[in-house]
Order: sequence, then C-alpha cells, then structure tokens
Amino acid sequence: MSDWIRKSVTDMQAYIPGEQPQGDEVVKLNTNENPYLPSPEVLDILREIDIADLARYPDPSCMEVRKVIADLHGSSVEQVFVGNGSDEILALAMRAFVERDEKVGFLEPSYSLYPVLAQIEDLQYEQVVLNERFNWSTPEGLETALFFLTNPNAPTSVSAGFEQIKSFAEQVKGVLLIDEAYAEFAEWNCMDLALKHAHVLVSRSLSKSYSLAGIRCGYCVGHADLIRALYKIKDSYNVNYITQEIARVALMDQETMKANVEAVKETRRLVSEKLFNFGFEVFDSQTNFLWVKPLGISASTLFQSLKQRNIFVRYFGEAKQTRDYLRISIGTAPQMFSFLDAVEEIING
Ligand SMILES: Cc1ncc(COP(=O)(O)O)c(C=O)c1O
Repeated sequence: MSDWIRKSVTDMQAYIPGEQPQGDEVVKLNTNENPYLPSPEVLDILREIDIADLARYPDPSCMEVRKVIADLHGSSVEQVFVGNGSDEILALAMRAFVERDEKVGFLEPSYSLYPVLAQIEDLQYEQVVLNERFNWSTPEGLETALFFLTNPNAPTSVSAGFEQIKSFAEQVKGVLLIDEAYAEFAEWNCMDLALKHAHVLVSRSLSKSYSLAGIRCGYCVGHADLIRALYKIKDSYNVNYITQEIARVALMDQETMKANVEAVKETRRLVSEKLFNFGFEVFDSQTNFLWVKPLGISASTLFQSLKQRNIFVRYFGEAKQTRDYLRISIGTAPQMFSFLDAVEEIING
C-alpha cells in the first residue's frame, strides 16, 4: 500500500487540530475561536441568498471581497488575495515562492502548521528558536526563500516590537509572510510593511476577530507580482459563493468586529489579572488567548483536571519549550468565570 504514497507523505506527521468537543455543558477555550456572534449583516445576506445562484460557480477572482479589503487597507485590488482560510494562503506561498532546494523559515514555537506544510512539499525548514521569554533575534546568515513571521505569535500571544520586525523585513532574504491571524487584538500591526516592501506579504484571517472560523476565509496583502503568483496556482474556485457573500458584508461591518474585539480584550485583561493573582506567569497577550505557566501544579495536570470538568484549553505536549505552559482562548465572561472557578478549585486541592 505505502508504495503508492509519496515517501514524504508516509513519513510526515499530520497537523493536529484542537479537539472539537460537543455539548452545551462544554467550555471550549482550546481553538482561539471568537465567542461572540459575527456581524448581523451575515444573517441578512444568508436570508437573501437565492439558491439558484448556488448552481453556478463562484467568482474565481473574489473581486467583490477584494474591493472591500483594498478599501480597508488603502491598497489596490491587485494587491489583495483571498483564500479559503489563511491556511490556504500559507500553503500556496510555500508552493509559489520556494524552489525544491530552498528553505522555509519560521519561529519555534509558533503555528504548528508551518512544518507540516513544509513536509507536504518535501522542503527543508529552518527554525528561529525563541528564548525562554519567547522573544527572538535575527539569526546570522538566515537563508530562507520564504519566512513565516507570526505577529503576534501563536501560541505565545506576544509580539516582537515593531522596530524589530521592520528591521527584520529590511534584512531578510526571500519573501517575508507576516502571519497576522490575530492582529485585530493587538496594539499595532505590520500592514504598512506589506504596502511598502515588494517582498512582504501580510495575511489576515476572518476566523478570529470576525467570528467566522466556519466559513473559511482569509486574505493577504502585498505586491501585485506576489499576489499574481498566488492567483496563478490556486484552485480555480478556491472560495465558495456563500463564503464570498458573507466575507464581503462582514468586512464592511468594521463596527461589530471592533466591538467584539474590545469585549475580548476586556475579558482578557480581567482573566490575566486573576491568573496573575493565582501566582501564574501570564504573558502580555496581544491576541484572543493567553499563554500561561501555572504555579504549584504542572500544566499537563491542570489541563487534564480542567478537561475532566469539561473545560477544554490547549496543551502542546511534552516538548521542552512548551511543556510548562497552557494556551487559553478568551471566551465569554461567564465561560471565563467557570474556568477561573475550576482553576481555583483545582489548585487549592
Ligand atoms: C498563527 C495562525 N495563522 C493562521 C491560522 C489559520 O487561520 P484560518 O482559520 O484563517 O485558516 C491560525 C489558526 O489558528 C493561526 O493560529
């Protein structure tokens, strides 16, 4: 059987998504979804959709969505690519910008999909290992055809300073894709770098701040030459009609997105404070999740004990850099109170 499968596919480990437990009693804080409803315009557009339109293929160029995004960021539509989630953009970038004998780079720890995508393409990768405070510095002699820089980083929730990223962008060889899946929760972002530098792309997601993980939509902005290359190699109809319609109206409603982001940030502040008062180490989150090191209990024990109470957070296993930490997505205030009560009960034995 394995004779039929490419060796790199046989040898690789698949990406492990967070668990999707079902049920009303579950408190799900493990996949960085947004707990609030998306724009009410989404419901209106769903009611307006004519099912006869579903018989036709969608616009392969996603033009109406691109117009809204171009308007939002002050770019031209030629500088915008829309994908089936930002994950699709990461995979396409790997295929568009890296030759067989070239390398891909990314931070470690960072988004665990990057090495999986490299393995699928049978590409070598170079990791820039974060220090114990989860910061990084530009390594000497970095030779990558494509570097994924996650800003703010996941799962660590922190951002490097803008000056550091700007200087990295000025030095790095090859394409720099700044993965800003969580940027709307941060104090600043790198979009200007994509508008300024021909080798910089910034990708964004509708899964987090827009509460639309279920429609699978992400986009990136950058030089028209890079965007054209992505369009050349994508699946013909990569973004379905319903997703295009929903994404268009949701992106136009910045007000709802920003109100939801503010609510998440307020809850983030309260939960950080509470965990800090428990003696946990809590990193300065620029995202919709917290990266914490528990006190007086191991991360894996706390993870298991929470799970037994139907509260799901994310534990990344026994690797040295991440084994002492948990990633906790910010849910609604009642969800977070249940979480905090459970933590208090567990640590007090
Ligand atoms: C850093 C990072 N980039 C990209 C993504 C993928 O986002 P999307 O849902 O748009 O594919 C995620 C999802 O968790 C992420 O954490």
